[in-house]
Amino acid sequence: MLEERALDVGVHDRSGFDCGVPELNDYVTRFAEQHRRKGISTPFVLVNTDAPREILGYYCLSAAQVDATELRENTRSKLPRYPVPCFRLGRLAVHQRLQGQGIGKLLLACAVDRCLKAGSDVAAYALIVDAKDENARQFYEHYGFTPFASAPMTLYLGLGE
Ligand SMILES: CC(C)(COP(=O)(O)OP(=O)(O)OC[C@H]1O[C@@H](n2cnc3c(N)ncnc32)[C@H](O)[C@@H]1OP(=O)(O)O)[C@@H](O)C(=O)NCCC(=O)NCCS
Repeated sequence: MLEERALDVGVHDRSGFDCGVPELNDYVTRFAEQHRRKGISTPFVLVNTDAPREILGYYCLSAAQVDATELRENTRSKLPRYPVPCFRLGRLAVHQRLQGQGIGKLLLACAVDRCLKAGSDVAAYALIVDAKDENARQFYEHYGFTPFASAPMTLYLGLGE
């Protein structure tokens, strides 16, 4: 069974993770735990409960804010003029061997679900993400993310009504 869990460096084999993008491999191996401890970003991993050490994919979440002028014109007029609170999906990566099998979609759904749950205690208007390349941008657009007005590689997904 697949399960999403908070990264636990005592359990999860970070160095065995390979999504094909060196900086994303490096991040989970070297920085994810440090960033968790410092309150920069919280990493979550997907594992199979039959082999719980192997990281099949991961993502990170943190708090963020966005200038309302970056958002769609029809929503921006209803928002305050000061920065709008958001969550940020810092990274999303799937083990190379498993790409194209729905794991990315599952991780994205887990991230959105966490944001919706957290949003009942701490308000957030949207989930924002920085796409690292054109492929990633298309992946997020496929799931309804909208590019920022001035920065098309940063996208957002509304979490409210
Ligand atoms: C991008 C990535 C996370 C996608 O994960 P994945 O497990 O391969 O994707 P999935 O199999 O879950 O695909 C889910 C859906 O997205 C679609 N999709 C995948 N890549 C896409 C792309 N480049 N453009 C448009 N749609 C895409 C699939 O067709 C599928 O659609 P469907 O559900 O309607 O059938 C993964 O390929 C990856 O880790 N890449 C390397 C790291 C990376 O680029 N991360 C992005 C960080 S910004």
